[in-house]
Order: sequence, then C-alpha cells, then structure tokens
Amino acid sequence: MSDFSVRLLRSDEERAATDLFRRALHVKEMTDEEWSAISGSRQPSRALGAFDPELIGTARSFDSEVTLPGGGTTPLAAVSLVGVRGDRTRRGVLTGLMRAQFEDFAARGVPAAMLHASEGTIYGRFGYGIAARAKSIEIDRHRARFRPEVPVGGEISLLDLESTIEQWPSLFDALPRIRPGMIARSPYLWPGYEREVRRATTPVATAVHRGPDGVDGYVTYTVERAKFGAQSELKIQSFHHAGSAAFAGLWRYLLSVDLVDRVTAEKRPLDEPIELLFTDPRHVTVQNIQDEGWLRLVDVATMLDARTYRGEVVVIEVTDPFLEHNSGRYRLSGDGAARTTEPADLEVRADTLSMLYLGGWRASDLAAAGRVRATGEAALERADLLFGTRVNPWCGTFF
Ligand SMILES: CC(C)(COP(=O)(O)OP(=O)(O)OC[C@H]1O[C@@H](n2cnc3c(N)ncnc32)[C@H](O)[C@@H]1OP(=O)(O)O)[C@@H](O)C(=O)NCCC(=O)NCCS
Repeated sequence: MSDFSVRLLRSDEERAATDLFRRALHVKEMTDEEWSAISGSRQPSRALGAFDPELIGTARSFDSEVTLPGGGTTPLAAVSLVGVRGDRTRRGVLTGLMRAQFEDFAARGVPAAMLHASEGTIYGRFGYGIAARAKSIEIDRHRARFRPEVPVGGEISLLDLESTIEQWPSLFDALPRIRPGMIARSPYLWPGYEREVRRATTPVATAVHRGPDGVDGYVTYTVERAKFGAQSELKIQSFHHAGSAAFAGLWRYLLSVDLVDRVTAEKRPLDEPIELLFTDPRHVTVQNIQDEGWLRLVDVATMLDARTYRGEVVVIEVTDPFLEHNSGRYRLSGDGAARTTEPADLEVRADTLSMLYLGGWRASDLAAAGRVRATGEAALERADLLFGTRVNPWCGTFF
C-alpha cells in the first residue's frame, strides 16, 4: 500500500473530487454552469478524499433507507462517485476509502450500504454482493396485442418536462416501495435527474396513472424518431407503480403512443411479468440481464435480525475478512436472528451473504457455483425457503 491518508473533504474541495471521479470514468469535467446546476446534489460531510498529499481518490455517500424482505425498512448509505486518479490505481487507495467509509457508516449507526458498480470485479472483496439483478427488454409495438384478461387500468394524464421536474419527487414518494431493495430517494438525487432530463435531445414526457384511490403509478419516457427505413424507439426512463392496475394501465398507454416501432426499458425487475400481458409473449425480448444493486451488510447481526424469514431454523457461518467483527455464526428463523455457537448448516462469505439477503439468489444455486458450502441438500432446501422472498429484489433508483 502506498503512503496516503483519507479524510472528509471540505466543501471547497468537492468540485476537484467530482472532476477526479469524472476523469476516472472518462467523462469530461463539468462547466461552471453544470456545477452550479447540481449544487443541491451533495449531502454535506459525506465526501471522502484520499491525499498523498494531492487529492488522488474519492468516494461519496448519501443517507437513504432500504425496504427489506417482510416490508420493514432500515437506514442505508447509498454509495456513489467512487474514483481513483489514473496514475494512482492498484496501490490500495480504494481499499483505504472503503475502510474509512465503513467506519463512518458504523459510527453513524448505518447498518448497510448499496451501490451500482461500474465493473463486476471491484466490490466483492469489500463484502458487497449482487443483491438485485435487472433485465433490459424490447417490445415489438406493432405486433404486441394485450390479452383480454389484462386490467384496463385507470386514467392517464401527461406531464411535460417542467411539470415532470416539479412533480417527480412527490410522485415517487407517494408510491409504496413494493420490492425488497427499493430505496428512498434523498432530496440530493433530484438535481442530477433534473440535469439529465434537461439535457435530453428529445422531449421527456411523464404519463401519470390514476386509479380509484388517486395516483398509483407513472412512467417517464422519450421517443427517438428514426430516419426513413429505421425504427422509432420509445425509451422508458423510469416506471414505478403501486399494483397491477397501474402496471397494466401504463403499459397500455405506452403501447398506444403514435409514431413508435419498438418500446425499450432498461433495468426492470427480473420477475416483472411484462411478456404475460401479450397474446404472444415472444413479442417481448429480454436484451440482457445485469447486476443492479450491490449490497453490503455493514452490521451483519443487525441486518440479519431486521428482515423476516420463512420456514425452519438455519445456522450460517459468516466469514467477513474486510469487517472481521461480523465473522461468526448466526441462527436464523421466523423469530429473527442471533449469534450462536450451534453448528452451522451453511458457510458463506460476506459478499455471498449480501446476495442471499434480499432473496435475489437461491442458496442452492450459490452452492452449485461454489459460493455457499452446506452440510447437505436438506440444509440448502431449508435455506432456499428461509431467504426466499415473494417478489424479486430491485433497487429501482440509479445513483
Ligand atoms: C475502481 C477503482 C476505484 C479502484 O481503485 P484502486 O485504488 O485501484 O483499488 P485498490 O488498489 O484499492 O484495489 C484493491 C484490489 O482490487 C483490485 N481492483 C480494483 N479495481 C479493479 C478493477 N477495476 N478491476 C480488477 N481489479 C480491480 C486491485 O487489483 C486490488 O487487488 P489486490 O488486493 O489483489 O491487489 C479505480 O480503478 C477507478 O477509479 N476506476 C475507474 C472509475 C470507476 O470505475 N469507479 C467505480 C465506480 S462504481
């Protein structure tokens, strides 16, 4: 490890840190105008810098909360703007930043952290695991026909760009976060989203769905008109709903938009039954499946006790090389979780525990890949049921 120190950034150092992060991602630095447009997007006292003595690395976070299996919530640190200067990589700078961040989260009593990763190889060693995955889909708009039993849905009203920007936070906040892994949107997120939609080269529209009890879903999208011979595309930017009527009603609207050949959406929940809306499910194609939310259980004991479980007792042995105090055995059951000295049914590393935690992977699949060691098939069967959730996890918020 080279010689550097990590400390909280002063507010007058934050622009340099943002520039460093952008250069690390091969993105141009911000103009003065862009920087002032996102002045409300930084939670104070959440940006770390690594110095040698120049600024050589940075990592930020903001406060949020996450929905857990069983419907409870817990405080969460949403981690972003992680970067190390190109001439200082692979000498432990990120490792130092991650350690300082976890110490900060622990000191503030935040038991979990989440991030979206630029590369799949970076964060596992720090105990983050792929807790939620997502799919990108494409629909052939001319051929897709709704099945007769699909709910008709309620009333749709369209918002223009300015109304979208004004109403977005209240629209999102009013909807229940129905999946494990969904996070609360901090006020610090919205200025960045506003900047993105203002920069869009085609109009951004939001369709709001109203059911008998009021607003219960919305979708934000753009349409890219194609030149002669190519296909026009409706691109869904965000789609949130409270239940099946809004889900179906918004899809009915999207498939009715004129001058569109195909409808695409990225990062949708893996089990979202879009293809089942149509008489021929093959008119919906899954383009890819990606990792979405990477979770870190910073305080394993607290997090294990915070979610609910189904079925019989399972004892797990957790190995956490990066946060050693988490290592040990835990007894999990419908009554909660507690440390134990009983023999373990399952052995997992911290990153794999994160994959199990929100119900996004089955213990038996992780065992098949060598990520879980179990005493036998019966233990895996119990663990599959214990960690399993009714719906797939999904973060649904990019940060
Ligand atoms: C990803 C990044 C922050 C890593 O910083 P770093 O200071 O080089 O990381 P560290 O030196 O602490 O790496 C610790 C370990 O992870 C490995 N590692 C780190 N980044 C890696 C990567 N991108 N690919 C493969 N391995 C990586 C290192 O090789 C090292 O392994 P070792 O302990 O076996 O030697 C840096 O490469 C970067 O800024 N990349 C571009 C921006 C980016 O992708 N940011 C993340 C946004 S989510």
